[in-house]
Amino acid sequence: MKKLERKVFDEVYCRIRILVFFIVCSLVIAIAVLPFLVYNLTRSITKISNKSVHRLPTTIIPSHYRLYIDTSQLEQYIFQGTVDIDIQIKEIVNEIILNSVKLNITKIEFQHDDFNFTLNGSVTYYKDYEQAIIEFNQQLNPGNGRLYLSFNGKINDQLNGFYRTKAHNRIGVCTQFEPGYARQAFPCFDEPSFKANFTITIRAPKYLTTLSNMPVKLKYDDGNDTCIYEFDTTPVMSTYLVAYVIGHYDYIETRDSNGVLIRVYTPTGRKEQGVFALKTAAKMLPFFAEYFGIKYPLSKLDMIAIADFGSGAMENWGLVTYRETYLLVDAHTSTQKTKQDVALVVAHELAHQWFGNLVTMKWWNDLWLNEDNFASWIEFLAVDYVYPEYDVWTQFVSDTLATCMIPDALHNSHPIEMPIQRPTEIDEIFDDITYGKGSSVIRLIHAYIGGEAFRRGLANYLAEYAYKNTVTENLWSHLSKTSNRSHLSDILSTWTKQMGFPLLTVKQKQQGNNRLITIEQIRFLADGTKDDSLRWKIPINICTKSHPNESFYQLYLNGTKEQEFLLENISETDWIKLNLFSVGIYRVHYPQSMLEALTPGIDDRTLSPQDRFNIQADVYALARAGHIGYVDYLKLLRYAYKQEENLTVWKSILRQLTELSSIFDYAHFNNTKKLYRSYVCDLLSNIYNKLTWYPLSNESSQAIMLRSLILIQLGVNGDNKIYDEAHRRFKKLFISNNQENLIDPNIRPAVYLTVAKTGNQQIFDQLKSLYLKAETQEERLILLNSLCHFDDESLQNQALKFIWNTTVVRKQDHLTAFSSLASHNRRGCEICWTYMQENWNKIERTYGQHDSHLIHFIESIPALFASLERSDEVRKFYINHPNPLLDRPIKKALEQINIRRLVLERHEHSINQFLSG
Ligand code: BES
Ligand code: ZN
Repeated sequence: MKKLERKVFDEVYCRIRILVFFIVCSLVIAIAVLPFLVYNLTRSITKISNKSVHRLPTTIIPSHYRLYIDTSQLEQYIFQGTVDIDIQIKEIVNEIILNSVKLNITKIEFQHDDFNFTLNGSVTYYKDYEQAIIEFNQQLNPGNGRLYLSFNGKINDQLNGFYRTKAHNRIGVCTQFEPGYARQAFPCFDEPSFKANFTITIRAPKYLTTLSNMPVKLKYDDGNDTCIYEFDTTPVMSTYLVAYVIGHYDYIETRDSNGVLIRVYTPTGRKEQGVFALKTAAKMLPFFAEYFGIKYPLSKLDMIAIADFGSGAMENWGLVTYRETYLLVDAHTSTQKTKQDVALVVAHELAHQWFGNLVTMKWWNDLWLNEDNFASWIEFLAVDYVYPEYDVWTQFVSDTLATCMIPDALHNSHPIEMPIQRPTEIDEIFDDITYGKGSSVIRLIHAYIGGEAFRRGLANYLAEYAYKNTVTENLWSHLSKTSNRSHLSDILSTWTKQMGFPLLTVKQKQQGNNRLITIEQIRFLADGTKDDSLRWKIPINICTKSHPNESFYQLYLNGTKEQEFLLENISETDWIKLNLFSVGIYRVHYPQSMLEALTPGIDDRTLSPQDRFNIQADVYALARAGHIGYVDYLKLLRYAYKQEENLTVWKSILRQLTELSSIFDYAHFNNTKKLYRSYVCDLLSNIYNKLTWYPLSNESSQAIMLRSLILIQLGVNGDNKIYDEAHRRFKKLFISNNQENLIDPNIRPAVYLTVAKTGNQQIFDQLKSLYLKAETQEERLILLNSLCHFDDESLQNQALKFIWNTTVVRKQDHLTAFSSLASHNRRGCEICWTYMQENWNKIERTYGQHDSHLIHFIESIPALFASLERSDEVRKFYINHPNPLLDRPIKKALEQINIRRLVLERHEHSINQFLSG
């Protein structure tokens, strides 16, 4: 071998030896650690796959919780607890995964029924998934057992979970667990389909009232200024319905006709304010029992007013919690509107005792079925039964239907049935679209299949799924059976699974004694753009001049773009109107001649209030979208609606006129707003002359509510008569404080808002002093709203400071007041927007990542602008403050700004000409 070759060989040989050495070493190491690697790899893989959906595995099923909560240290905002859960293990598991967040689990034991020893466990928290993984040093075999956990936590001030509330400087505590906050109060399987029995025991200071879902079975003093309350075991139910409240309360009680004990708990010293709700509930509970064909499943129902409350009310089984303004009615100072709202909210929550509590959705994506759909629809049925004089069904169209159609016409709307990964995502879809459209869909089915088939279908559905979980399809299938309409689910899915609603463009041709009508459908979009990709299945009822209040023709649009129908036996002079009683969720675009033919029916009121509402609401929406001129709308009001007397019709008109007025804050001509105000005052002159300031002794509740709305509009639009009278009444209030001078509660908002509008510092201070000494939350809110309605810039700034003063305004009310200031005028909006930008971190911190309030800040403040520059600013703001929760709200706000800008661009000139003419 040559020297060089030898060297090369030696080198290669040496390298091979090194390589072999490394390979051998690696193999040895690999063999040693392989099982470990494989084990860990699979563990982390299973964990990842578990977590990706935020859902609990179904290998462990809880059946009974024995929950003990010790609140003896509530003044220090801390609590201790233990929970003892009977579980069924369905397959071999290494760990138990349940929900727990912000809790400190201190002791873990597990006792398997098949073994007589106890296992001790350890816990790992998965914060992002709000889960705790409990591990033992051995696998758990299938069978039954008991998991025992000790834990402690903080009583928070976030209005969710287990939180504190303060009234008259005295602390109380309460729970709000829907949708996913029970896990902040005790470790649990916090998903609606894990239904279980709950036996709750609470230790609480003995001078406080202590309540839970069930009646107290046993109460004893434990000798430490605390009492132990043992409550009866609940029926099987979901964790989000568990509740307990501890605080200073008084109560009144009655029994309903089926013997159920009903109590209303009020803040101490105010129990007479619970009378209205108590009477209402005592009539409604038997009404629901009969309607659903199932007795109220518990022996008691408590309803309680909580001073700090994030939403409106919560249907916890047997212990319904309410915001004060949705439960308390003061015989002397409450408005008719408050009474009606209380009746509706009580009805809504009581309906949930069956629909939601007894029969529960499987997962939150079907929550819309509980909420929007059903409870928000049936609240009207129950109030109509107990208080027919309120005529709430007519109001449904302006209060519910109309409000959901505005956001649902945006490109960035969403279907009411949406996939949900985490309970907290519910906040994102819990908006006017979901609540309003869902209940409007139910109203539509009810009208389509008839009241009796609907009721029977519902009763069958509740009977089949009582104490169980269900999905939307199961309800449709019961309704299909009782109504003999197999295609129900087909129709309904076009309304629930896709966003938006259609615009129907109608054409007609008389053919002898018949009329040929053509209907074309396309999605209705608020900015007037065309989207031809969606279709709906639409039952349509038509009334005619000779049959103005009945469904004379029934058509069915089967989802094709255009359909023709021949209406037989109709004379040339007979008008036709689609969408009888405004039951359908669609807009109708009539040719001018058809619309003109309808106006006498509006003017002489042969058309129903819902139809009169419907015609002008569609014309307004078409004008807003640029399909027709706005002047057409203003003319229509002047010629057909000046004699209008109905509350519902006016509510809708006034809401629209207010929107237009706010758009005119951005007008290019400096007299547009002024001209517009006198148009509004002139339009309202007839109805004002009828209603005046003075209530009649036997007038209807609608007249009472309408007077308030008309006076407010005239007051804020600068009508002299109203201005003078409001100031006269306001002064009188301050000259003497005796009862006689108290302003009628129903016109109080009009007086306060009118004096505020052009008011000075003195008036601001007077309203503020009234706020500070107001005795009810209802009165406080009316005053807070008035404080936000000053034109003067420095007073607006003072209002802003006042709103955010947490010692005088409760957290739950900041947003309402803030949007009220923003909606007052352009400057109010600018002030709020600047504040929002400067304090966004604080707002995000206060209202939390998951709170729907955060969404409302975005949807209700910047959305009020009307210029391109502001759109850019909003867009930039979002780039600098990204938050996935706000993706859709920001897009919606940008769309709204654009629509408002387009209204001015398209119509201001012609409106100005019309108003000047
Ligand atoms: N269950 C809801 C409240 C709720 C919904 C809490 C979703 C958390 C997540 C309750 O029945 C309800 O709908 N409350 C309404 C008032 C109601 C009268 C429309 C609310 O709080 O706004
Ligand atoms: Zn509800």
